[in-house]
Amino acid sequence: MNPSRRLRFTGWPAASQLGCFLIGLAAGRALGRRVHKEADTVPASRQIVHHASEAIISADLGNLIVTANPAAASLFGTSVEQMLGSPLERYIEAPHGSQDGPSEFFGAGDGRAGRRATDYTVTGLRADGHRFPLEGSISRASNGTPYYTVIMRDVSDRQRVQDKLSRSHDQLRQLSAALQTIREEERTHIARELHDDLGQILASLRMDLNLLQQTDGTPTDSLRLMHGMEANLLTAITSLRRIATNLRPRALDEGGLYFALQGLRDDFVERYGIPCALLADEAELRLDDAASTAIFRIVQEALTNIARHAEATSVTMNLFRLNGDLLVTIRDDGVGIRPEDMEKAASLGLIGMRERVWGMRGEISISSETPSGTRVDIVLPVAGHLV
Ligand SMILES: Nc1ncnc2c1ncn2[C@@H]1O[C@H](COP(=O)(O)OP(=O)(O)O)[C@@H](O)[C@H]1O
Ligand SMILES: [Mg+2]
Repeated sequence: MNPSRRLRFTGWPAASQLGCFLIGLAAGRALGRRVHKEADTVPASRQIVHHASEAIISADLGNLIVTANPAAASLFGTSVEQMLGSPLERYIEAPHGSQDGPSEFFGAGDGRAGRRATDYTVTGLRADGHRFPLEGSISRASNGTPYYTVIMRDVSDRQRVQDKLSRSHDQLRQLSAALQTIREEERTHIARELHDDLGQILASLRMDLNLLQQTDGTPTDSLRLMHGMEANLLTAITSLRRIATNLRPRALDEGGLYFALQGLRDDFVERYGIPCALLADEAELRLDDAASTAIFRIVQEALTNIARHAEATSVTMNLFRLNGDLLVTIRDDGVGIRPEDMEKAASLGLIGMRERVWGMRGEISISSETPSGTRVDIVLPVAGHLV
């Protein structure tokens, strides 16, 4: 929906009364630029309009402005004299094919005519060409020749705040969708691991056990079967440990962040054969559970990305404290990361990393290293997380 035609049923009885009052005044006047001396006859009403802080204009059915107060002139960056006798469309964006007089300008023409006072958001045109959102209450005289009076406000600030709010809502919606996806992906991943790893092993153990029960062969056969079963059981135990560690690394609870990061580094080196240095001081990494978990998951994702995408030959992780902040840098010498890779909507790893950092009110930057590779820099305020 075009916001400039948005109908707002806020009503404004006081404005409407004032509008009718003004229309009554205007009806008695000749049209055009001639400035009247109603001040002598109706000084109080003129003064009200003149000193009103709201911008007020009246226009006739031919869309010519017949009254304008100084607040209106200042709103449109011009003078009262300039406004009088000017067409309305010089100050308010005209709707396409408007022929029905000023009410059209405020959306009252498309089936809404007849309302005494309604609020609409339209586009104002300042004398310097600047366009701005304008909200107006329009009212019409009910007897004699109809005149319209419009009381207006510049709603740029409110629109800016609304835009910001709606952007922020969009981001929240996206984040909540991303979190759901992450949760679903994690469940799928765990289910797959349980099925592929443990499920297979348990199935083969059951088959071996059946064979063992049926075998009336030599003890050598039984022994061979039992050896196979033992090997399978050991594999199952290792798988279970790996799955459990992925869900919640025990090292974090047992030895703290530094110990857990060492475990992560050792696993990475063993699994991928890529040298990885962890430069950190254990005393500086004594943080509470929330901060430790967040940092662990961030480093874990960074290492997973390096293994999956970087084609790196070495990795360096730096964690050190500076005043109340923990500075974390993870660098690889791989193919580097392209700006468009960082914005991939379907990739949740970097989004998750950013969210964890922002969740701790930290900052994160991901950039390409020269001559090659990727660098992740994170600043986390950890003063409130020390243990
Ligand atoms: N260390 C890295 N080196 C090169 N490319 C990377 C690196 N880390 C991330 N990327 C790129 O950024 C993309 C987004 O990463 P991520 O959000 O973790 O999603 P995913 O790993 O699931 O693809 C990756 O698909 C990859 O193209
Ligand atoms: Mg990833």
